[in-house]
Amino acid sequence: MSGVCSMDFIGSHILSIDQFERADIDHIFSVARMMEPYAHRHQVTKVLDGAILGNMFFEPSTRTRVSFGCAFNLLGGEVRETTGFENSALAKGESLYDTARVLSGYSDVIAMRHPASGSVAEFASASRVPVINGGDGANEHPTQALLDLYTIEKELKSSGRSLDGLRIGMIGDLKHGRTVHSLAKLLCCYKNINLQLVSPDALQMPGELVELLRSTGHQVTISDNLASSIAHVDIVYSTRIQEERFVSQQEADLYRGKFRLNQSVYTKHCEPNTVIMHPLPRDSRTEANELDSDLNENPNLAIFRQTDNGVVLRMALFALVLDVVNLVDKSAKPVNWYTGSRFQ
Ligand code: CP
Repeated sequence: MSGVCSMDFIGSHILSIDQFERADIDHIFSVARMMEPYAHRHQVTKVLDGAILGNMFFEPSTRTRVSFGCAFNLLGGEVRETTGFENSALAKGESLYDTARVLSGYSDVIAMRHPASGSVAEFASASRVPVINGGDGANEHPTQALLDLYTIEKELKSSGRSLDGLRIGMIGDLKHGRTVHSLAKLLCCYKNINLQLVSPDALQMPGELVELLRSTGHQVTISDNLASSIAHVDIVYSTRIQEERFVSQQEADLYRGKFRLNQSVYTKHCEPNTVIMHPLPRDSRTEANELDSDLNENPNLAIFRQTDNGVVLRMALFALVLDVVNLVDKSAKPVNWYTGSRFQ
């Protein structure tokens, strides 16, 4: 472990990247590395046997919800969940305060997604157990940013590059995309970052985040030119037009398909070892197709390594918040079923 953590993880809510300093991130990543044998089915632990995760997703999700659940199961705990606002008592007018008081009586930790910015923090203020933000409106998605940075560190390490001095292009809906908001904040903990922010004028990164990046010494270029912005970067981080945040479908449609990355664009404009990332879901409909499926065989496409890393990162957060990091290896057993070769 490097540096001294500023954060006491035990019993804490994980709501925003604002909570972390670089030493805290290093600590989370070192615990995540410790979780890899368990996530990759080389070993089994039951360190959270008897514990319950309340997995409360009041907005659509595939990977965040399921990976939170898998991470908790892989530590030996059980998962209870609700999916969709309409299937919850919030649709009957119940307040976040009441919902939090109820659910925190049923669970030892809660992961939550909600369409309104600030709602997860409001919920956490009434919860009697730690709450982890799985995405609150267009505000933040801290666990996605952590798994993204964990992925970036791993991808760069294999070619001798590091997070300090990172060159990254963020592309797409930078106004509503909560993953890029959290990732931009996270990058402020590192040195000499060069960010190329590529979006239509109306979907630019919020001014306060650009100001934060510049005031912490990073170089930020704002552009609507994809080709020049991806020419000299280590990472191309593409995002979807967040159509659910627009007033109307027609307004969202104005921007769909504006910045398409496919193999031919990549070959023409990117350096040969540029890593391609996306928080997913990517919009694979013909009129959008921001990250073409013809990139699927490109070895620099890291999108499914990102999703795999989401499990270890979320296992690490559960272990830290519930104070079992030092017990995990003590409870380890070998796996005795077929595991295949998924994690290579
Ligand atoms: N990246 C992400 O948040 O995906 P889901 O919406 O499927 O959870």
